[in-house]
Amino acid sequence: MEEVIKIKGGNLLEGNIRVSGAKNATVALIPAAVLAHNKVTIVGIPNISDVRSLKEILEYMNIKVTTPSLDAIVIDPAEMINKPLIIDAVSKLRASYYFMGALLGKYKHVTIRMPGGCNLGPRPIDLHLKGFEALGAKVEYRDDNYILTADELIGTRIYLDFASVGATINIIMAAVYAKGETVIENAAREPEIIDCITLLNEMGANIRGGGTSRIIIEGVEKLDGCFHEIIPDRIEAGTYIILAAAMGKDVTIENVIPYHLDSLISKLKEIGVDIETDYDKVHIKRNEHQLTKTNIKTMPYPGFATDLQAPLTALLTQAIGNSVITETIYVARFKHCEQLNKMGANIIVASPSATIVGPTKLIGTDVSATDLRCGAALVIAGLIAQGTTTIHDIYHIDRGYEDIVSKLSDLGADIHREIID
Ligand code: EPZ
Repeated sequence: MEEVIKIKGGNLLEGNIRVSGAKNATVALIPAAVLAHNKVTIVGIPNISDVRSLKEILEYMNIKVTTPSLDAIVIDPAEMINKPLIIDAVSKLRASYYFMGALLGKYKHVTIRMPGGCNLGPRPIDLHLKGFEALGAKVEYRDDNYILTADELIGTRIYLDFASVGATINIIMAAVYAKGETVIENAAREPEIIDCITLLNEMGANIRGGGTSRIIIEGVEKLDGCFHEIIPDRIEAGTYIILAAAMGKDVTIENVIPYHLDSLISKLKEIGVDIETDYDKVHIKRNEHQLTKTNIKTMPYPGFATDLQAPLTALLTQAIGNSVITETIYVARFKHCEQLNKMGANIIVASPSATIVGPTKLIGTDVSATDLRCGAALVIAGLIAQGTTTIHDIYHIDRGYEDIVSKLSDLGADIHREIID
């Protein structure tokens, strides 16, 4: 028995679709909340499986967690116990590694099972560990677990060889209680990092430079609870914008910060998409132009997001000419191309690039979501394709796209979940 998503392609989509809270902020803010000594309320969180895994980890540490509504979580770490994190839930999401920084920062010791996550090729955490060691922690790796300990954590200057999102956030969390000042050079600038810094400062931390490549953390004695609203998910928003560019007749994507999607929106305008932005929404209307090819190079924010290259690849199968996508973040992130080629696309992968020969006619067939964003690309391709597409391994999609089937059905897509043998 397996649950799949089935899409009968060809319908033009109309109406409004609302974006949920940012997954990649949520999975950092929930661990960050344990740094407080009393209740933290976070609203606007997405109803996705990663949140359920994180809740399980919190409760395992005797943290009281209540969810007054589907999009709100109240975390009370007042009586938490810093236990070795070796339960299965830790392996379900790579972002569980944020508990390294949070527990090291608060207790100066943490034991955690090696993080899990999408199959995007090697995903080391050497920059995270380098930051922890620079602050004074000792890092050991035994029986699949990391054990981090420190007599004390002392602020220092840390240069990141790569502007890593995870390492930037993890080091910030380890440094909030450190003695003195920590400076992170070449820090990542993603909006999710700013959101995490905003939460920590609302708790009483002293962090400056969020969104720039130099972040300064002044250690403090204590962090209190607070109330925080998560930013919208720019990758979910980008996915729906691309989907509307593919099959939208007249679609408005709501709860968007257009500024977070500058690189995507300018690219879509360049290839002929009729797209307008408002304060917190994006409006797409179908026009008679056929889309033209373009070249994309993924870069750390504010460059073109690696998480949107798979969804955009699905759209570019319909553009006239050869588009080239170069992946500089995860060189192995092309597994979606093989699945799209099964549907009739003509994509030649020569890592770190892929050439999309367009336009090609897509025909529905059985495909597999190899990771979260591949799943998103296959949904878009299924909406474009003639006939029915059956997407397997949809648990990946459920990790990052809240209620995707109902949201797309509301736009007029012929899409449903089905249990098959
Ligand atoms: C975050 O992953 C996101 N995940 C990813 O989104 C996103 O693709 C990525 O940032 C880049 O924007 C979350 O926020 C939970 P990185 P993260 O550290 O933090 C290398 C999705 O689909 N690296 O910026 O793991 C690494 O191998 C997911 O929502 C090291 O070499 O990304 C990769 O090549 C997928 N050593 C590159 O840096 C390290 O210590 C980017 O990694 C850390 C990273």
